[in-house]
This record gives sequence, C-alpha cells and structure tokens, in this order.
Amino acid sequence: MIELRNVGYVHDDGTPWASRALEGVDLDVGAGERVLVTGPNGSGKSTLAWVLAGHVAPTEGRALVDGKPATDALTKTGFLLQHTRLQILAPTVLAEGERYGIDKDWFRQSLFSLGFDDSILPRKIDEMSLGQQRRVALAGLLARSCSLLVLDEPLAGLDRKSVGQLIDAVEALPKSTTVVTITHDIEASARLGSRTVSLDEGRLVNDVSTVASTDEHTDADTSTDVNGNVGGQPS
Ligand SMILES: Nc1ncnc2c1ncn2[C@@H]1O[C@H](COP(=O)(O)OP(=O)(O)OP(=O)(O)O)[C@@H](O)[C@H]1O
Ligand SMILES: [Mg+2]
Repeated sequence: MIELRNVGYVHDDGTPWASRALEGVDLDVGAGERVLVTGPNGSGKSTLAWVLAGHVAPTEGRALVDGKPATDALTKTGFLLQHTRLQILAPTVLAEGERYGIDKDWFRQSLFSLGFDDSILPRKIDEMSLGQQRRVALAGLLARSCSLLVLDEPLAGLDRKSVGQLIDAVEALPKSTTVVTITHDIEASARLGSRTVSLDEGRLVNDVSTVASTDEHTDADTSTDVNGNVGGQPS
C-alpha cells in the first residue's frame, strides 16, 4: 500500500534556513500491515509521518499510496498529528464531528469505542485534557473509515487507562486498515504493530519484525538492517 523510494525531505528547501530531516528512505508497507516507527528526538519521525499522510510531498524520491502520490490520497488517509490540538478546529466535540461531514452515529460509535459517552458531545475542546482531545481527534479519523491511519505519538502523555482505550480502538479496526504509529514507547505500543522501523538522523536504520514462531511460548525476531542483512548479521 505504501511505497517510499529514496525519500528525502529538506525543510525550507532552497532557503538559507534549509534543514534536512529525511534522506534515502526506502520503505514498503503492505495493506493491513501495522508498523511502528521509532527513533530519537529530531530523527525525522514526524516529517516521515507528514510525507506518509500526504500532507507534504518529499523533496527527493517518491512516496506512493496505492500506486499514486501520497499527496493525492488524502481522502483515504487519516493523520493524527503529534500536536493534536492543531487539528481540532471546531469549538465543541459535536461541532468537530460535523466539520468532517461524517455521519453523526458513526462519530458517536467511534467516541464510544474510545471510552466516551454522549455527555462528551457538547463539551468544549479547550476544557478537555490532552488525552481527551487526542481521543476526540482519533474518533473523527475512525469514523471516516480511512484505509490508512498515520498516528504520530498517539500515546504520549496519556494515562494507562487512556492508552488502553486508544489501543483497543485501533485494534478493533478492520484488518484491512493499514496503521503506521510513531512512538517512543515500543513496549506500550506493542499491540499496535509487530514490525518496528527505526530512524536515526533522517535515515532508516533498522526494520524489525516480530513473527509468532511455531513454538507458542517464544517469538522469533527477524531484523533487517539498511543493507538487507538479516538478524543484524552480514549475509
Ligand atoms: N517545520 C519545520 N521547519 C524546519 N525544520 C523542521 C520543521 N519540522 C521539523 N524540522 C527539523 O527536522 C528534523 C526532524 O524533525 P521531526 O519533527 O521530523 O523529528 P521527530 O523524530 O518527530 O522528533 P520528536 O521525537 O521530537 O517528535 C529536526 O532537525 C527538526 O528541527
Ligand atoms: Mg515528532
């Protein structure tokens, strides 16, 4: 579903403030795959999320969703921003649902799946906690039935209960929904993906899949570094 080839991104390209965030990123993600993206602060995770979600075009290489530029796939892609407050533009929860033009019952169902009840509908966004705002934004995305979800640090700042509600809601999505989750906490995010891609200084440095082995008591890790070596061992 996602095909990145030699993707690079330079913020403020062509200006004296140009700053490179991504370089030479190759990545394939199949339909329905659940992928975690991790890496240190400033390694380019959010920039990658913006490219995947089609909100910016790469300055080098190509980013395709279902064979077309990601920038042309906005209707099928849902993007939860790292700074979630920036994407909620209406004053109340109900008005936010209406803004998307989504069916009100679908929106309510999504809110319920994220632990809310109808009392949340008239609430003012600015009187809600970060965790509540993030779950409201996610409810809007879930109700749009996107085939690709890009979630940038969805668990950051959430308490354990909110983390559980959010993960349950993502797990309940149709198996065909592709989900890419940016996270600093691989352990907490384990149920959101069995493949972890790592960035460092804008480059993809590791791609690890946790595959259930035939022995039900153990898991086997298949790790591929950027040179295609499996298990970190040169082939
Ligand atoms: N809008 C912007 N304008 C200019 N430079 C930017 C912009 N956004 C990010 N950068 C730079 O691009 C690089 C990658 O930033 P990015 O936000 O993608 O990293 P990140 O891995 O998401 O970091 P964090 O873990 O802190 O969220 C950093 O050097 C950052 O300073
Ligand atoms: Mg970020």
